[in-house]
Amino acid sequence: MTSTNSATSATPTWPTQHDLNDLQGDVVLGMPKRTEDFIFFNIQNANAFKHSLKLLIPSITTTAQIQKLRQDISDHKRAGATGLIQCVGINIAFSNQGLKKLGIMDDLNDPSFDAGQLASAKALGDEGTTDSSGSFTPNWLSAFKSEIDGIILIAGESRASVLQGTNKVDHIFGETIREVLKVTGQVRPGKEKGHEHFGFLDGISSPAIDALTGHLPGQIVVPPGVLVCGTTGDVDIQRPAWATNGSFLVYRHFNQLVPEFKKFLEDNPLEFPAIPAKQGSELLGARLFGRWPSGAPIELAPTHDDPALAADKQRNNNFDFSQDPLDQTKCPFAAHIRKANPRADLDKFGPTALTQHMLVRQSIAFGPEVAPDEAQSHKTRQDRGLAFVCYQSNAGWANTKNFPPKTINGTAYQSGFDPIIGQNNGAPRQTDGLQPKNSNAETTLPLDFIVSKGGQYFFSPSISALQTKFSA
Ligand code: HEM
Repeated sequence: MTSTNSATSATPTWPTQHDLNDLQGDVVLGMPKRTEDFIFFNIQNANAFKHSLKLLIPSITTTAQIQKLRQDISDHKRAGATGLIQCVGINIAFSNQGLKKLGIMDDLNDPSFDAGQLASAKALGDEGTTDSSGSFTPNWLSAFKSEIDGIILIAGESRASVLQGTNKVDHIFGETIREVLKVTGQVRPGKEKGHEHFGFLDGISSPAIDALTGHLPGQIVVPPGVLVCGTTGDVDIQRPAWATNGSFLVYRHFNQLVPEFKKFLEDNPLEFPAIPAKQGSELLGARLFGRWPSGAPIELAPTHDDPALAADKQRNNNFDFSQDPLDQTKCPFAAHIRKANPRADLDKFGPTALTQHMLVRQSIAFGPEVAPDEAQSHKTRQDRGLAFVCYQSNAGWANTKNFPPKTINGTAYQSGFDPIIGQNNGAPRQTDGLQPKNSNAETTLPLDFIVSKGGQYFFSPSISALQTKFSA
């Protein structure tokens, strides 16, 4: 039996040209960027806002436009042309509070989104204080503790392009919104391009939707519904039809303590026969992430960095931990990339155990490079970190110590915190698998290398929903 409800009539032909014009451009393909502004806003007057939004819609960047832009960029590179193609992308998303303010009372059926991120700050492990009545207040930027109705993302190849986008947005919305916070992201300079502030290449592994992105060896192929609501594979069919071609956007604002992280590596080189301490420090960093700074996966290069492997897209993602199911000699179970994407570790739980939790990341670094006085004193004095953005068809979040689930010699095994992003409300964190010679030994990490400064859960509606539900 077929249904006329678009949330349940998802067809395997997604995406049609309509879908490509309907899905906002950042969701799956990501807006190309060297810099990006995130404007967190509060709606001042719902009716006036709706009128303004109508004027902005033609400037909201679609997936079809990003597909074309990405093709142009790759043609430009292949032709050996110099300089960057000028571009500006604009997307918009709303918090649950923003939806309600606009009179949209439909239930998107996602408890995390409904409650807002502040409500889950303690469960996320963020640092904060608990008062005598037991109420928890995280040490977040005050903006994230105040009312945020939505986020506007403006990305471009240069500050000038982003500024052009920001001016357009300011001009259209005027007094109908109040800016609560603006975060400016910036790709790191020179050979650090694409590397997050600890120095590791980011954005290598991402789930693929075959009909839209194709896939490289080792890339996990997911049905579109894992990332895009109301399409094939979305496990939630209760959502309103207008949610189709929308996606949940999770924003997390992470400060990174770079000098402290580097000092931790320096002070704790892993012992390996006949390798100098410096290399032992690099190995420790690689085992925390599961990849070397170049991006080479330690599952394939367990003892030395391998920049050629890192640069080879046919190989740099082509591993699944199946050679190493109960042994952490090559890659710790809790290494950041293994926690975030356990690959074959979840095979025994069925085909959807892994794919259901996949997400696509579109983050960018913020803040300055480490200054000489910070490096010398091993102390962070200026805020820097990652403006973490990811999209998925459900906004739930995990900080689970016994994940990926392992049973060794009949006993459930706790692999401990993700040493990069796992949070224990500021207390020391236990993690396993760091030492290749004694891989099940426990290590206590004395400090958090990243500090959450807040965030929010948003919904990035389709262009058609923006036209019919959000604007007037
Ligand atoms: C400041 C915080 C973070 C830093 C510095 C960071 C850094 C990295 C790096 C360097 C990689 C390897 C490159 C790649 O595989 O693309 C990576 C992968 C990944 N990260 Fe993070 N990350 C952070 C936060 C997060 C958070 C909060 C999540 C959410 C769960 C997350 C999820 C992932 C995923 C899914 C992968 C890909 C794993 C794979 O498919 O192999 N990251 N991250």
